[in-house]
Amino acid sequence: MGPETPILEVEGLTVRYGRRTAVDGLGFSIEREEIFGLLGPNGAGKTSTLSVIEGLQRPAAGTVVIDGDDARNAPLAVKSKLGVQLQATSFQDELTIEQLARLYAGLYGLRLTRDEIDARLSEVGLAEERAKPFKRLSGGQQQRFSLFVAVVHRPLLLLLDEPTAGLDPQSRRQLWRRLEGLRGDGGSILLTTHSMEEAQAVCDRIAIIDHGILLVIGAPAEIVARYRDDPRVLKYAHGEPTLEDVFIGLTGSDIRE
Ligand SMILES: Nc1ncnc2c1ncn2[C@@H]1O[C@H](COP(=O)(O)OP(=O)(O)OP(=O)(O)O)[C@@H](O)[C@H]1O
Ligand SMILES: [Mg+2]
Repeated sequence: MGPETPILEVEGLTVRYGRRTAVDGLGFSIEREEIFGLLGPNGAGKTSTLSVIEGLQRPAAGTVVIDGDDARNAPLAVKSKLGVQLQATSFQDELTIEQLARLYAGLYGLRLTRDEIDARLSEVGLAEERAKPFKRLSGGQQQRFSLFVAVVHRPLLLLLDEPTAGLDPQSRRQLWRRLEGLRGDGGSILLTTHSMEEAQAVCDRIAIIDHGILLVIGAPAEIVARYRDDPRVLKYAHGEPTLEDVFIGLTGSDIRE
């Protein structure tokens, strides 16, 4: 599909667990080279939305179109276009980083030379760790390796569920820079985050959802400007309203679950 088609189009997406509706008619689309943030309180339906896009879960209703292909009709063609950051704990932890790198490149049908593997490990700052078993990496290094796996096949759309949770400020900044780089190469990114700072620093547009429903979508600065005089937002603002004030104003101040 051409660069005019959105890389992702989600329409009327509904996800149910038994009688509970986790995602309720959600719709949004992501353009080429866009970094898009999905925000919402705990239990809002962010991970459920990602799991349908990843093909791990069947929606009760709605469609997911990736690069012009309906995800239901062309699951294999679609999957090769996606990169998904796996939970770090799911790697065989006795294998070295270099062995794992080969293994996962191989699963995508890539035959990478040693230099190519090194270059890609360098992208995530792990070239020096290539001979170490996975289990001897630090938490942040393990997370970086899971990003390596997610992008090893140069996906058109990268899906990241809270990619910077648990990272120190240095690693967080590094990841933000990497995401900018991946976007520059023609890829698009869908990430979830609870950090307003992150949403403002890296996301071109965000959607705020709650109870599986879309509340607002747009560029972070545009959303703040739109709601700066809203009484729900002013109630929580100390001075000039921030994105967090808008978030709390629209989703309420009650703690979830
Ligand atoms: N496998 C499951 N079985 C039953 N209910 C589920 C399941 N997964 C999620 N839910 C429920 O669906 C709703 C949405 O959950 P989801 O994990 O999508 O939220 P989230 O926005 O990712 O939250 P968080 O910010 O805490 O990660 C919640 O009410 C949750 O309890
Ligand atoms: Mg989640």
